Amino acid sequence: MLAVEGIEAGYGRTRILHGLSIDVPKGGLIALLGGNGTGKSTCLKVIAGLLTPGAGRVTLDGEDITTLPAEDRPGRGLCLVPQGKEVFGAMSVEENLMMGGFHRRRDKADLAEDLEGVYTRFPRLKERRRVSAGMLSGGERQMLSIGRALMSRPRMLLLDEPSAALAPKVVEEIAEAILGLRELGLSLLLVEQNVGMALEIADHLHVIRGGRIAFSRVVDGGVAPDELRSFYLSGGHDDES
Ligand SMILES: Nc1ncnc2c1ncn2[C@@H]1O[C@H](COP(=O)(O)OP(=O)(O)OP(=O)(O)O)[C@@H](O)[C@H]1O
Ligand SMILES: [Mg+2]
Repeated sequence: MLAVEGIEAGYGRTRILHGLSIDVPKGGLIALLGGNGTGKSTCLKVIAGLLTPGAGRVTLDGEDITTLPAEDRPGRGLCLVPQGKEVFGAMSVEENLMMGGFHRRRDKADLAEDLEGVYTRFPRLKERRRVSAGMLSGGERQMLSIGRALMSRPRMLLLDEPSAALAPKVVEEIAEAILGLRELGLSLLLVEQNVGMALEIADHLHVIRGGRIAFSRVVDGGVAPDELRSFYLSGGHDDES
């Protein structure tokens, strides 16, 4: 559904991605792992259209969207839940959610239906619908961030470290919510540093290093964690030479 091929990208003269390629099949849940500063968010920014790659291609359903403006991508069903659980702190939970449906300018009944859908998925957001988003806990903010993306009716969701800085019990809730999205038929690209969570829910995982995918495995009854650990933590082997 989403194909990223040979992406070269960076900031100014600093190149971060060196020929990165990654595919997300329809209905797939693909995890992208890697240490701090390895270029995971940079990759999602390229896919979301927030950063123009110097080379390479991004296609969605076979259509080249490499240069499609970022603001036109949610309308094509591609939506990013950015890192850092950013919400509009001074606005209420419900106002934040309505912002997510804004670009579609659908009729009110449609929006109300989508809002109810988000509240069914995240009952805590319904309880706190009138509260300022700035008052939410980290877990609730992450739910709001995901809920806001759902308001644009995405088919392909990019999630940037949704588990970061959350207590284990809350990570579990977020993981379950992500699995729920997949059951809904969404395709997901999940950036994570929480290897355990990625192993639990993803069906394929990739590790980014040196600006490209250096390790890929199907998660089939769990990747041998030792193999992954040796690669991910202590350097392992990669195919960069
Ligand atoms: N706007 C920017 N301008 C300049 N350099 C940037 C910018 N954003 C990121 N970088 C640099 O690009 C590199 C990759 O950053 P990126 O945010 O993609 O990493 P990451 O893998 O998402 O890390 P983390 O897990 O910490 O979020 C880092 O060295 C970072 O300092
Ligand atoms: Mg990042």
